[in-house]
Amino acid sequence: MSASERPVPLIYVLNGPNLNLLGKREPEIYGYRTLADIETACAARADNLGLSIAFHQSNHEGVLVDLIQAAREDGAGIIINPAAYTHTSVAILDALFSFEGPIIELHLSNVHRREEFRSHSYVSKAATGVICGLGAQGYLLALEAMAAQLSPTA
Ligand code: DQA
Repeated sequence: MSASERPVPLIYVLNGPNLNLLGKREPEIYGYRTLADIETACAARADNLGLSIAFHQSNHEGVLVDLIQAAREDGAGIIINPAAYTHTSVAILDALFSFEGPIIELHLSNVHRREEFRSHSYVSKAATGVICGLGAQGYLLALEAMAAQLSPTA
């Protein structure tokens, strides 16, 4: 199959609760870029990398579980910033365990420099790799890592 015939891998980029407030919420921790800014930058970088993205945000745990289950149908990989559900959600962890492709867990802030409870992640148990503390740039690095994970030479 030639490169032009190969299907473009679809990457689910999932964002948990309160990330819809990015840019306004604690900008000294999470930065001034909005989630819409991040989505635009991700779409451009994905295009450069030969990937496509399904970018979503939800404040609801079950909706995130449904999106992870949807990724089982047509997703090649998942990049997820589970936000507060990182530290609480066995339901999201179990959904991620059901996904067979690479999973990158992502946090804007360095969760290990913050309150003790943020150092524990349920999601890490299912993650291929974790990026944290690099702000919005972490999303672009996660896409690059995903492209490498999906590359036949990786
Ligand atoms: C976060 C870190 C979490 O501890 C927090 O609950 C968030 C955002 C981050 O991107 O740094 O909402 O996932």
